[in-house]
Amino acid sequence: MQPRFNILAAILLLFTLTQCLPSQRQGKVKLDDIDDKVKALMKTMTLEDKVGEMTQLSIDMLSEGNPYNLQEPHQLAEGKMNEALLTLRVGSILNAGGHAYTQEHWHEIMNTIQAVAKKKSTGIPILYGIDAIHGTNYTIDATLFPQQIALAATWNPDLAHETGKITAYETRASAIPWTFSPVLDMGRDARWPRLWETFGEDVLLASRMGVAMTKGYQGENVGYPEKVAACMKHFLGYSVTLTGKDRTQAWVSDVQLREYFMPTFQAAIDAGAKTIMINSGEMNGIPVHVNKHILTDLLRNEMGFKGVVLTDWEDIKYLFSRHRVAKNYKTAIKMAIDAGIDMSMVPMDLEFPVLLKELVREGKISEARIDESVHRILRLKYELNLFDMPFYSKERYPDFGSDKHAEASLNAAREAITLLKNEKNILPLAADSKILVTGPTANSLNCLNGGWTHTWQGDDPKYNTTGKLTFVEALTEKLGKEQVSYVEGTTFDEAKDVAKAAEMAKNMDVAIVCLGEMTYTEKPGDLDDLDLPEAQYNLVKEVAKAGKPVILVLIEGRPRIVRQVEPLADGVLMAYLPGDEGGQAIVDVLLGEVNPSGKLPVTYPRYSNSLLTYDHKGTDRIARDFSTNAFNPQWEFGHGLSYTDFTYKDLHLDFRELRAGGEITVTVTVTNSGNQAGKEVVQLYVTDKVASITPSVKRLRDFQKINLKPKESKVLKFKITPEDIAFVGQDSKWITEEGEFDVQVAGLTANFFYMD
Ligand code: BGC
Repeated sequence: MQPRFNILAAILLLFTLTQCLPSQRQGKVKLDDIDDKVKALMKTMTLEDKVGEMTQLSIDMLSEGNPYNLQEPHQLAEGKMNEALLTLRVGSILNAGGHAYTQEHWHEIMNTIQAVAKKKSTGIPILYGIDAIHGTNYTIDATLFPQQIALAATWNPDLAHETGKITAYETRASAIPWTFSPVLDMGRDARWPRLWETFGEDVLLASRMGVAMTKGYQGENVGYPEKVAACMKHFLGYSVTLTGKDRTQAWVSDVQLREYFMPTFQAAIDAGAKTIMINSGEMNGIPVHVNKHILTDLLRNEMGFKGVVLTDWEDIKYLFSRHRVAKNYKTAIKMAIDAGIDMSMVPMDLEFPVLLKELVREGKISEARIDESVHRILRLKYELNLFDMPFYSKERYPDFGSDKHAEASLNAAREAITLLKNEKNILPLAADSKILVTGPTANSLNCLNGGWTHTWQGDDPKYNTTGKLTFVEALTEKLGKEQVSYVEGTTFDEAKDVAKAAEMAKNMDVAIVCLGEMTYTEKPGDLDDLDLPEAQYNLVKEVAKAGKPVILVLIEGRPRIVRQVEPLADGVLMAYLPGDEGGQAIVDVLLGEVNPSGKLPVTYPRYSNSLLTYDHKGTDRIARDFSTNAFNPQWEFGHGLSYTDFTYKDLHLDFRELRAGGEITVTVTVTNSGNQAGKEVVQLYVTDKVASITPSVKRLRDFQKINLKPKESKVLKFKITPEDIAFVGQDSKWITEEGEFDVQVAGLTANFFYMD
């Protein structure tokens, strides 16, 4: 506790607790009168108050020490707070200073910050935002969930909803009402270092997961004490840079933007997402932060977004320092505000509000334009109930970090894990197997969690949740030391005790080699080759020489190339970044206590230079003409094995002709023909045979996840409407064209015709 705030904090704590007695407010905001309240408040505000509301600073700027090297343990600095919050009237703060804090410290921070903010004549509370992207990952002991790419592999939107719901609860329990999540960029390029932050390569799957997560965060009323505002990011075209490197240029045609990159955002906007963060990079040669066409014409006027538009980190400044479209900071601010920005994530200088005020005083930006943004920001603050209760007492959240929440994370991880290969039914392993575990990811909780875990890069074990197990720890706890032997074998890129691992394998029934990646995010140039370091391939090759079955467990945020060693393995399990419960979940799948049901949400490439998505436009048709194999992935999008067998039959369409306004019902019977219960993702693809622009070889148009007991059958129904099979035509408009369409479910096919 910081001595100078003791008395203040005590008074506030008392105030908070009295507000939370049984008669406490339920945080319910009447939405209808918010606009009137905002208007009345704005009449009392000076220009300084208004530009302050449009400013977001990092907590680093309010803390003791150098903002780039804070004093430890973390402490707020009174003088810095007064300057930022009272003199400059800054209305929003973000992030944690370098690493996760305890729930108590978050409460102390919020007590202090909100108490200072209350001294302003307007008394407007601070809106605090954080990257709670897979659970409340900046609070120690919070529940950490699988990252988005793993959630996508469950193909189960209910799990994304549950993840959002619990994260919202634990984030508000940490006194924070706003999360910078979900990522709605499409994960269509494995080279991109943030692929794992996405819901994968398919538009339909990512849209459904994104909507579910958004609803989980926000609920029906974002003002409830268990809910937070979501922030869709990073609008638009962020994930498809030409180089694969983060924050470099993307070139995307309008047709592609509309068909592949806008729908996830549109779906979340329609679901009520409150805020949006802008793409730091450039699209078609224009930095997105100055692109009025994208930020206003498209986002506001066409897509109907009414919430708050936030820049990404320092992006207005980068307009002159990186992109060089402005000659100085002030011009950059004018350009970004003109384009449609509401709030600047400044976040490391105090100049923004000063320069913005000057621009208004000089008549370069109208006060009416400022008012539009301030209205949206204040509206959000009212919707979040911050005026009445900027945060709630810690005691209100008994389930924070509970076993119940850990169980939810475990369930999600179990459904995510994807069995890619299972020769001779090597898996599940017999319970009495003697197992060698080796490889760089086998004994790391950080690898299971990935970036944005207690720190930005997620690579510091110091803050790991106590009591959570790495994969090898979970396996040893389950089977005992007599059965499980561990040797690291190799670091991520250097051989360590490979010979020892190979020797030990000889006395085992099976060798599990855990390959993959250390944590990372954002950094351009973090990866030049999708191949794994040679040391990891060598480990597999040496261990395989023992002649015992080899299982590969891939703990990685993007599909790294395994072609070189896959033939040496009988089993391959993709674990993605499954979170704090991931070690346990992998064990459960390997030992057959959980029947795997994950399916790849991305195409798993075989070669670094062949990175086609499953819905590519006819590359294989061209390739066939040249007798080559252009589309030849290691494993296809949607692939994932089970310990039971599913048989598909009777694919049936009720009509062979679809007309405008009509629908076709597709039925198919799925039977669990194996000996154990299992979940299956039934995927329906449609191929447009001929279209006015090159059609994809196939597109996922619907899916359902079902659970079948042994020998049980289910008749599934899917509806296809003309909108489901539409595409964006040459004139950038959605269109459904007359013609023939193929329907595919598993190996079955049927066809129909669309007529206007
Ligand atoms: C990232 C965002 C993140 C923000 C705040 C940026 O560098 O691109 O995804 O929300 O930082 O931490």
